[in-house]
Amino acid sequence: MSGTTGDPQWTNPLRDASDKRLPRIAGPCGLVIFGVTGDLSRKKLMPAIYDLANRGLLPPGFALTGFARRDWADQDFSQVVYDAVKQYARTPFRQNVWDRLAEGFRFVSGSFDDDDSFDRLEQTVRDLDRVRGTGGNHAFYLSIPPSAFPVVCKQLARSGLSAQDGDQWRRVVIEKPFGHDLKSARELNAIVNDVFPEDSVFRIDHYLGKETVQNVLAMRFANQLFEPIWNAHYIDQVQITMAEDIGLGGRAGYYDGIGAARDVIQNHLLQLLAFTAMEEPTSFSSNELRGEKIKVLNATKLVGPLDETTACGQYTGGWQGGELVRGLTEEEGFDPNSRTETYAAITCEIETRRWAGVPFYLRSGKRLGRRVTEIAVIFKRAPHLPFDATMTEELGQNAFVIRVQPDEGITMRFGSKVPGSQMEVRDVTMDFGYGTSFTEASPEAYERLILDVLLGEPSLFPVDEEVERSWEILDPVIERWASREDGPDRYPAGSWGPDSANAMLARTDRTWRRP
Ligand code: BG6
Repeated sequence: MSGTTGDPQWTNPLRDASDKRLPRIAGPCGLVIFGVTGDLSRKKLMPAIYDLANRGLLPPGFALTGFARRDWADQDFSQVVYDAVKQYARTPFRQNVWDRLAEGFRFVSGSFDDDDSFDRLEQTVRDLDRVRGTGGNHAFYLSIPPSAFPVVCKQLARSGLSAQDGDQWRRVVIEKPFGHDLKSARELNAIVNDVFPEDSVFRIDHYLGKETVQNVLAMRFANQLFEPIWNAHYIDQVQITMAEDIGLGGRAGYYDGIGAARDVIQNHLLQLLAFTAMEEPTSFSSNELRGEKIKVLNATKLVGPLDETTACGQYTGGWQGGELVRGLTEEEGFDPNSRTETYAAITCEIETRRWAGVPFYLRSGKRLGRRVTEIAVIFKRAPHLPFDATMTEELGQNAFVIRVQPDEGITMRFGSKVPGSQMEVRDVTMDFGYGTSFTEASPEAYERLILDVLLGEPSLFPVDEEVERSWEILDPVIERWASREDGPDRYPAGSWGPDSANAMLARTDRTWRRP
């Protein structure tokens, strides 16, 4: 790719240094991953680091240190990363890139409650500064259960690893769940902020790393076309769907007792709502952007009564994709009496002039008909139709659908005349697809987010206030569901959720979109 804009080493002499289109390359630094033997690390983090190296976006002396209980040498760790990269990396394998990257791999074997282990880690990091030129700049990625945050944060402080001297930086990256309710989220934030100042804390919500999610902002704020109609005068409702076809086999340890609302509504779906509904920031600086998100989340309220405006369900066995699959309570590791919801839907309203009266329906479920995430903005009907009723019988509501995944793009639905001598209007769609409009493939969310951590670019990371506000919105629903004697409603695998989900929209004569 030499000589193209895709090659970060190449700089166009005609371009100004302030050109924001130029690729950003991280300065000298290292990354330490706690929980390096976990799935996330193998499937997402290690491949993303290789992909960044392959795209030339990491500094030449970049260092990756794994910390875990296993009795591994650096070489064993390197082999694990190698296997993960071979299996999951997005970009092609290049031996020279790998060789250079692997020189910076280190492994520290130890446990979280052992001072010696952290002293060894501190020594390793110092050695890396010397031999790899990491310049005292290090990020600590906590890919570990929140129950381990306090001890790791304490150890990072005790061993001096969290201390930032002069221009050097130390950052901490935390994965969700950020607590399980408002109270625990506040406690967690306090623990982390005790050791790292808020501007050194990077909370990962990987949905914000997705191109299609960032495109919501581009689409809304770079165009003249949409903003004038982006309000309660024209919009009837917004449906945000995150449907997955996979079940929860193998994830009992994390998921049982957590459920869909905590797993994805508290974070991913409320963030999608914030992007869709926020006001235009005066600039794209992280403070402005996050400030607008906080404002809209502060104005977001649940619509009740919750028994009618929310739905929670749990999948039972059924046919999915031609395969007979088990119900949640038969999945390995789950309590046979588990009341954990695998489907969650809520109704919100945003109390602002722009949005008053427009319901925002948020839903997510496992083992649904198919995997799809989308934001569907559904418009009111035209106030007057100068046609005979029969002519518009097949005309639905106009819709603007942001297809987050898997078929990334945007669909617009509107009425059009059916060819023929008579007047008949029927819905048609107009599509924009990433695959056909751009030749560049989208980076994985984790590539973007890890690079942003190393660059110290915080825009795409929710701050403590957003996280706490999201819990505050959701807590009453979770409490209400927990008090149900009969537990969640049941729905068969391969369907689109429990009947109660349809009922929650039917009460206002609406229906869910069938993506
Ligand atoms: C995670 C959830 O945050 O997102 C998982 O914990 C879910 O339950 C996953 O499967 C989905 O991510 P994606 O990027 O495949 O939509």
